[in-house]
Amino acid sequence: MSPFKRARLSVFGLCFFGLLAGGLARGASPAAAATAAERADTLLAQMTVEEKIGQLVLFSGYGTTTGPLPAQQGLEDHIRKGECGNVFNVMSVAQIRKLQKIAVEETRRHIPLLFGYDVIHGYKTIFPICLGEAASWNPPLIENSAHVAAREGAAAGLDWTFAPMVDIARDPRWGRISEGAGEDPFLGSVIARARVRGIQGTNLAATDTLLACVKHYAAYGAVQAGRDYNTVDLSERTLREVYLPPYRAAIEAGALSVMASFNELNGTPATANSFLLQHILRDEWGFTGFVVTDYTAINEMVAHGSAVDEAEAARQALSAGVDMDMQGGTYLDHLQQLLAAGKVTEHQIDVAARRVLTIKFKLGLFDNPYRHCDAQREQQTLYAEENLAAARRMAGESFVLLKNSAQTLPLKTGAQIAVIGPLADSQRDLLGSWKGEGDWDSIATVLTAIRRENTNGSVTFARGCDLDTTNQAGFGEAMAAVQRAEVAVLVLGESWNMSGEAKSRTRLNLPGVQTGLLRELKKTGKPIIVVLMNGRPLALEEESQLADALLEVWFPGSEGGQAVADALFGRQNPSGKLPVTFPRTLGQVPIFYSAKNTGRPLDPADPHAEYKSSYFDCPNDPLYPFGFGLSYTDFTFSEVRLDHPVLKPGGKLTATVTVTNTGTRTGAEVAQLYLRDLVGSVTRPVLELKGFQKLELQPGESRAVSFTIGDNELSFLRADMTVGTEPGEFQVFIGPNSRDLRPATFELLSR
Ligand code: GLC
Repeated sequence: MSPFKRARLSVFGLCFFGLLAGGLARGASPAAAATAAERADTLLAQMTVEEKIGQLVLFSGYGTTTGPLPAQQGLEDHIRKGECGNVFNVMSVAQIRKLQKIAVEETRRHIPLLFGYDVIHGYKTIFPICLGEAASWNPPLIENSAHVAAREGAAAGLDWTFAPMVDIARDPRWGRISEGAGEDPFLGSVIARARVRGIQGTNLAATDTLLACVKHYAAYGAVQAGRDYNTVDLSERTLREVYLPPYRAAIEAGALSVMASFNELNGTPATANSFLLQHILRDEWGFTGFVVTDYTAINEMVAHGSAVDEAEAARQALSAGVDMDMQGGTYLDHLQQLLAAGKVTEHQIDVAARRVLTIKFKLGLFDNPYRHCDAQREQQTLYAEENLAAARRMAGESFVLLKNSAQTLPLKTGAQIAVIGPLADSQRDLLGSWKGEGDWDSIATVLTAIRRENTNGSVTFARGCDLDTTNQAGFGEAMAAVQRAEVAVLVLGESWNMSGEAKSRTRLNLPGVQTGLLRELKKTGKPIIVVLMNGRPLALEEESQLADALLEVWFPGSEGGQAVADALFGRQNPSGKLPVTFPRTLGQVPIFYSAKNTGRPLDPADPHAEYKSSYFDCPNDPLYPFGFGLSYTDFTFSEVRLDHPVLKPGGKLTATVTVTNTGTRTGAEVAQLYLRDLVGSVTRPVLELKGFQKLELQPGESRAVSFTIGDNELSFLRADMTVGTEPGEFQVFIGPNSRDLRPATFELLSR
């Protein structure tokens, strides 16, 4: 038997037992777990081709339009005719029950609909944008956020969310960097697993979980020039080392749907890319769920130039492994003719329909199509107090303190505070993009929350300027307010719709005249605190010099205004760490910590040396490095201690440091483990994150933090594209970020 065939059989075996184990893990009996697939087969045998094709159709309802085409007209007729088996952008128990009733009671096969929606960082209770959540470096908290979002979405009738978005992004021009977990495959993988666990839980048929959908597969974050929907061209090595790990992690965590991405990869759109959809996703990773396209992505293959028309695009997509057509209508319009013309087979349609039906059985939809349609549970769950408390805590842990000179923060209540800036009293911007069904008209702004906190002092507000105009007419009022105050809090940044989908920027500055306003207010000589609300890394070299304190709060969600006040007045000690590098200037982009050394590395001790890999107009290092974040207290790290200076192949060693809170306040620090493989059969990055631990320490408290290092941490994609270790010298670093590190060294022996 050929190795490939053996591999495929073993993969099949994995799939089947994965299915079985998956079912067992979700509390079903061995028989029950196997019936999901068997029940799908039994039903499939009774269905017409038209009905099977209907299960491959996903149409948008009338709630929200998240792409170019208007919401589907005649949706109810398509459902009634069995031409649409899945719906998205319809929310609330009442609306969902109405459509489900049509599918279950008015169609020949009574197959329940699957209801999907973008519950990205909350359904009603909105959490910080995902890039902000990633900055918490707190996987259990992120898992809880995802579970609260799923619980609310499920209570509102939904079965499926188009999350987690796990695209690695290293170009801040790309607006969707706001939706993911930043630049690093290790951190991105840990967070992907946490989100899938939070969304799907351990029982897909439970009433407080949703089907997860890992997106956007694959490497959408690598679009050229950070321009959305643009071309992606990567070596297989970079694809596998940097971009694929979080998708794989999500699949290994049990995610049962995947969304193919808009972009082409190396000449073939992801939506028709069998290397991605079959070879890697199913043959290598053993994925058993279904693949859905992104919004009209099959239709867009004509524009890509990979299909002469939509019928050919549909043929290519089905053949490559796409099971469901989101909004494009191409499967509905063309699969029957393609079948009649012998260009697709009924077996291909059966395979896709079986995958979708199996998931519907796993979700319990056939046992109770209205399992999520409980109006009382909806009313009790949305905006529940514990959900809002979770959002406030998550927001507080997402903030990154970038600067705090002269202990400007935390503020003391009773102070005379001037609150300035176009985002200070904005409610909508707090929610960021992809805000789900979150309402904003009654949430507390940063200004409102500061007023609530500082009742024994005074708070004056002046907007100062717009978010994105050249109008400086408000500068005078702002100057006057700051001159009358003891301290100024400026809330500056981007508007919520300057990041997210189709929101690429060619600049990384603060839009409009916000920097000019800061420059003017600095002249007052008063302490200036800048609170940053933004969905991407910004180039803040001047702002970082002008501000006395700089607090990155991203778009912090429904409870974000209150959480900002908690941080400003010290109720919450910031503990966030950057999940993505902040450049000095756009000209450095792409810039990320896990870079290669090159043959002419610049010695930071001699930054002006000639003939080095450097710029003559800008340092090489970023303004704020990956993993960076300060606290209101201080921490020290001891030297790294290794329990062995030499490691045998397959062995493990322990690296330990002692972290001490040398300040006067309780605080949390994130001890980050980085490795460097000095020599390899291919060049290796100067640093790779391989572990982290977040620990809270009381003032004066010390704690030993240990990491185990073995094959898992030392393996990489070698020159022959096999994964494994190679002997040689390694450096181990454990520190507070990817810059302030001191190495310990060990040797991995030959086998
Ligand atoms: C959008 C986005 C995707 C989203 C989908 C459904 O175009 O690319 O992230 O899940 O359409 O709204």
